[in-house]
Amino acid sequence: MDPFKRSNRQNWDERADIHALDRTGFYAVDAFLAGADTLYPIEKAEIVEVAGLKLAHFQCHIGIDTLCLARRGAVATGIDFSPRAIAQARALAGRAGLTADFVEGEVYDAPALIGDDFDIVFTSWGTITWLDDMTAWAEAIAGVLKPGGRLYFADTHPTAMQHEEIGGALRVHYDWRSAKERPERFAAPTTYTGDETPLVAFNTFEWMRGISDVIGALLKAGLSLDWLHEHEELPYRLFPMMIPAGGRMFKLPPGVPRMPLAFSLQATRTR
Ligand SMILES: C[S@@+](CC[C@H](N)C(=O)[O-])C[C@H]1O[C@@H](n2cnc3c(N)ncnc32)[C@H](O)[C@@H]1O
Repeated sequence: MDPFKRSNRQNWDERADIHALDRTGFYAVDAFLAGADTLYPIEKAEIVEVAGLKLAHFQCHIGIDTLCLARRGAVATGIDFSPRAIAQARALAGRAGLTADFVEGEVYDAPALIGDDFDIVFTSWGTITWLDDMTAWAEAIAGVLKPGGRLYFADTHPTAMQHEEIGGALRVHYDWRSAKERPERFAAPTTYTGDETPLVAFNTFEWMRGISDVIGALLKAGLSLDWLHEHEELPYRLFPMMIPAGGRMFKLPPGVPRMPLAFSLQATRTR
């Protein structure tokens, strides 16, 4: 494993244990265990009926979304490269009394690890920024989907990703694309849920990219685009200035120029 990925995986192992404890309620674990569907409003509004369908959840983290989809009747498999995330996902499945498979592994290896006959790939919020190769990502999605199978994807908008809040104002701070060998380095001392536990492995490496890099890779891998949406809300505070928007979502405060904070799409494997 290359040094960027090793560093990211150590960071995600630590975060998985902190997130599963859910001291701040960010992941709504208690509500989920009590039976709530804790998918975010954008996903709830956009995903197709999954009951009875074979669904692969890429970068499933501690498995809450995977298990919400299982609760909706999907035959769900989550894949994530963090062994702690997979352990926590299996533990949550047990506590919730739900059935889903959780597989430890790289997104790029998904077809070899979980098979090639899925109806749906689901992946959302904090996903492609951790991946250094959109072509390999799209090929992995096409590789697990059967012909006619669909991808649902929702994540932070590339425009928002380029900004940083500096001195109370948003400024364009990052290049819109990162070379594979030159990701952006971040060193957040704690995780994004508000939990104050200091991270030991705090160095992370992330890749910026444009919308055309995402969609171009999917088209090249044999998917066709069904729709593309842009949104003014995110399920986390990308910038400290963001304010609650309801439904566990956050938006920019009044007086700040609007920009797209999230995008989502559905694509179908046509060849
Ligand atoms: C923000 S979380 C996933 C989002 C999910 N919506 C959540 O918050 O529960 C990102 C996940 O991606 C995983 N990840 C990062 N790089 C990966 C890779 N190359 N292959 C598989 N999983 C990866 C991490 O282990 C982490 O669990």
